[in-house]
Amino acid sequence: MVAREGLVVSGQASRNGAGIVIPVDGPAGSGKSTMAKIIAERLGWDYLESGALYRAVGLKVLESGGDPDNPDEAARQAGALRFECRKTPDGWRNFLDGEDVTDKLREERVSDSSSKVSAVPAVREALLAFQRGYGRERGALLDGRDIGTVVFPEARLKFFMDADIEIRISRRFNELREKKIDFDQEKMAANLRARDKRDRERTTAPLRPADDAIPIDTSNKTIDQILEYMIGEICREYGQLIDLR
Ligand code: DC
Repeated sequence: MVAREGLVVSGQASRNGAGIVIPVDGPAGSGKSTMAKIIAERLGWDYLESGALYRAVGLKVLESGGDPDNPDEAARQAGALRFECRKTPDGWRNFLDGEDVTDKLREERVSDSSSKVSAVPAVREALLAFQRGYGRERGALLDGRDIGTVVFPEARLKFFMDADIEIRISRRFNELREKKIDFDQEKMAANLRARDKRDRERTTAPLRPADDAIPIDTSNKTIDQILEYMIGEICREYGQLIDLR
């Protein structure tokens, strides 16, 4: 087996995809988490919503009464993070210090705080090793902003999903409504636009497609259409190494 920076590039990888990581990047509401989760399920692989890591840091700062604009405070919380993304009978859930915080992490105050703390280089550095631990025991899909550019730049197959901003805003409205999380529509839309701008314009690991990422515009596509396309690309790249369910 020939490995390049930890990833399988040829040879007899085990059938569970060990050595393969597929980055799925994109802005909020692009559909990256939805798709990465479904595909991880189909392959029996691991899944990490890397945004949840930044959200967890943002939440820790808020709950400790700190200021998300204070880089030292953000770096301190990131360095001490005890986080786990685990599959449960209720789907993939995020745990912070052993507590299931999946729903809490979606609150608007946490979205805003996470976007601020994620611009701090020391925070990003502290979370790198955790993310790079994925893909060793079985294949993994990681969604985020910089998985294909910074965390796993050597991945052979990567996706970058995007969609029209108005469509992304309405998807986020629906998601929060479904989860029965209270929100102010105007404030939420303004926050998402501000977050987009901050994520794209920050100096460290800005949101951008890797040069070799496959772009997918999800604006007017159904989940099934996107799934068929992504599975087709995965089979083309890794067909002999994977088992689809
Ligand atoms: O994907 P999300 O909306 O849950 O991400 C929350 C914030 O975390 C987002 O504003 C940017 C940041 N983030 C990041 O900087 N890098 C990642 N790989 C994932 C998320």
